[in-house]
Amino acid sequence: MKERIERLRDEIRKHDYHYYVLDSPLITDREYDELLAELKALEAKYPELVAPDSPTQRVGGEPLPSFTTVRHRVPLLSLDNAFSREELIEFNRRIQARLSPEEISYVCELKIDGVSIALTYENGILVSAATRGDGVVGENVTQNVRTIRTVPLRLRDPVPRLEVRGEIYIAKEDFVRLNREREEKGEKTFANPRNSAAGSLRQLDPRVTASRPLKAFIYDLLYVEGPDIRDQAEVLEFLRLQGFPVNPNWRLVKSIDEVWDYCQEWRERRHELDYETDGVVVKLNPLGARETMGVTAKSPRWATAFKFPAEEKETRILRIELNVGRTGVITPTAVMDPVLIGGSVVSRASLHNFDLMREKDIRKGDWVLIHKAGDVIPEVIRPLVEKRTGMEEPFPVPERCPVCGATVIRFEGEVAYRCDNINCPARLKESLIFFASREAMDIEGMGPAVVDQLVDRNLVQNVADLYHLTLEDLLTLEKTGQKKATNLLEAIEASKSRPLSRLLHALGIRFVGGKTARILAEKFRDIDVIATLSEESLMQIPEIGAKIAASVVSFFNEPENLETIEKLKAAGVNTKEAVAAITEGPLANKTLVLTGSLESLTRNEATELIERYGGRVSSSVSRKTDYVVAGTDPGSKLDKARQLGIPVLTEKEFLELLKGNS
Ligand code: IVH
Repeated sequence: MKERIERLRDEIRKHDYHYYVLDSPLITDREYDELLAELKALEAKYPELVAPDSPTQRVGGEPLPSFTTVRHRVPLLSLDNAFSREELIEFNRRIQARLSPEEISYVCELKIDGVSIALTYENGILVSAATRGDGVVGENVTQNVRTIRTVPLRLRDPVPRLEVRGEIYIAKEDFVRLNREREEKGEKTFANPRNSAAGSLRQLDPRVTASRPLKAFIYDLLYVEGPDIRDQAEVLEFLRLQGFPVNPNWRLVKSIDEVWDYCQEWRERRHELDYETDGVVVKLNPLGARETMGVTAKSPRWATAFKFPAEEKETRILRIELNVGRTGVITPTAVMDPVLIGGSVVSRASLHNFDLMREKDIRKGDWVLIHKAGDVIPEVIRPLVEKRTGMEEPFPVPERCPVCGATVIRFEGEVAYRCDNINCPARLKESLIFFASREAMDIEGMGPAVVDQLVDRNLVQNVADLYHLTLEDLLTLEKTGQKKATNLLEAIEASKSRPLSRLLHALGIRFVGGKTARILAEKFRDIDVIATLSEESLMQIPEIGAKIAASVVSFFNEPENLETIEKLKAAGVNTKEAVAAITEGPLANKTLVLTGSLESLTRNEATELIERYGGRVSSSVSRKTDYVVAGTDPGSKLDKARQLGIPVLTEKEFLELLKGNS
C-alpha cells in the first residue's frame, strides 16, 4: 500500500507541476480529481502513512496565535537601486575596477513586485518558509506558503539542504478580481498587487491564505549542500529542474550595454506580463566573482536593481459622483479631466471608500497624481496640495442615500457606507442590470437605459417582474418601436432557459460569483435543493468557506427571496442544471488559449462556451495547446503559437468549429 500511495503522490506532483508551474496540464481536471480522491481515501484509511509533503497536505492547519520568528541562516540582503543608464554604467565601473573582463557577465531578471520569501528544504522536503523581515530575522509563514500551489513541497532531485529565495506575488488579473470581490463585500480593497500579496501571506489562518490567488517565482540560491553550481545562469536552471517556478524572461549578457537594452525592452514590454514588475535585477553571473565583490552593510556590490519609471500623470478632479451598488454600498468616484496613461484614456477612478478619501485628503477640484494600480485600475495616488487655490472642497459622507434619500448606515467592522433601503431604486436598478448582464442571464438589449425606465415607471419592482412584461409595456419605453420591443421580449424569453449556474450568479447572492455558482449548480443541480442546505453541508465543499455558506443560507432564509424564486419558476425560468459530460466533439478534452479581444464574446463567455463543449482554457501557449483563438490585437501568445506550429483560429473559424458540433 505504501508503494501505491507513493506512486499516486508522484503522479499528482507531476500534474501539479504541469498545471500550476507550466500552466500546461497533461490530464483533465476530472482525471486529476480522481487521483486526488484516491490518495485522500488511502490516507484516511492508513493515517500512519500521511506525510507532510503529500499533495493532500497543502491546506489545513489551525490558525496561529501569532507568527514565530526565524533567524535566516544566510541574511536576506536588499539591493541598491539604479534609476538611469548612468547609474548602471557606474555600477559596472565599480565591478570592472575589481574584476578582470573575462569574469564579467550579467544575468538580467525581471524584478517581481511582490513579497520576498526564503524557503528551506531538508533532504528534499520543504521544512520552512520565512518572510524577509529585517533581513536577519523573519516571520515563520511555513503553514501559509504550503498552500501556494506553485511552491514545491518536495524537490525533484533531493539534496541534503537547500535554501532559496523568491518572490510571492498576485497576478494582475487575480488582483482585479480579488479587489472587485472585496469591494462588493464592503471590505477594504488592496492598494496594489504587492500589498494584496503581503496581506494574504501574513494571515494567521492558513485557510485565508489558501483562498487567495498567490503565486511564486524563485530566483536566488542562498545555500546548497551537494551540487557544484558556478553561476547564476546555472542557479536558475538548477532551480527550474528542481521543480521551482522560475521566471522564463531572464537573459545572460556580456556587457552593460546589453543590460541597458534588456531594461529598455522590458520597460516597454512589461504591460504584456500578467504580473507586476517594477524593474530589472542585474546580477553578476559567476558566483565566485560575487565573493570577490563582497557586500556593503545592507546590499551586495554584485547586484543592483534598475527601477522602471512609474507611469504617473497629473489631472484635475472635476467632480465626485456617488454610486449606489447592488448591495447598497455607496462608492465615491472621481470624475477627472481625461488623460492618457498606460495606453488608455482615463477619466474616472473609484475612490474606493470615504475613509480612504479622507485619509488621502482628496477634494473636489483638486489636481491629483494618478496611476494604474496593477497596471489596470485607474487610481488617485494623492492630491497635489501645492497646486491648491483654496477653492477645493472636501467631500462629506452623505447622510442620506443620493438616490432614494434613505438613511446611510455603516455595519460594524465594515468600511463601506450603505443605503439602508432594500427597495432603493438604485439598488433595484443595479440588481436588474446585473441580472440581465452578459455574464448573468444575458438578456440582450436590457441595459441601463431600459432598466432605468422600467424602474422609474414602476413596471418592474423585482427581477421576476421582467418575465411578466408585455409588448405593450415595452412599447411605452422611449425610442422603442415594434421591432426593438419584440427583440427585447424574445431576449427575455430566451433567458428563461439559461443554466442554473447563471441564475444563481444573477440573483446576486453575496459572495457567490460565477465560479461558486457553477460549483453549487453542478453539485446540487436544483435551486430547491440548494435552498434547503445547511451551512454545514455547504461547507463540505472544499471551495466553500464559512462566509459563503452563511450568505447562501441567509439568502434562502429571506421570505422575499423565496417569493422571487417561486415567481421566477412560475414564469418558466429554468432552475435546474442539466447533466452533461462531453466526451465527443471537436473540443472534447482539448486545450485552447484565447488571445486578443473577440467581437461577439467576452473572455468569460468564450471560456464558458469552450468548457460547455468539454474543452479547457489555458492562459499560456505550450506544446499541449490544441488551438489558439486569436481576436483583434492578439498578444505574444499568437507568436508563440506560430513558433510551435499550433493551429490558430479566427473567431469565425472557432464559432464554425462549434457549430459543426451542435
Ligand atoms: S535578488 C541579494 N532577484 O527585489 C539579492 N530580487 O531589494 C537578492 N526581487 O527584496 C535579491 N525580483 O524581494 C532578486 N529576480 C529578483 C527579484 C528580486 C524581485 C525583490 C526582492 C528584494 C528586492 C530588491
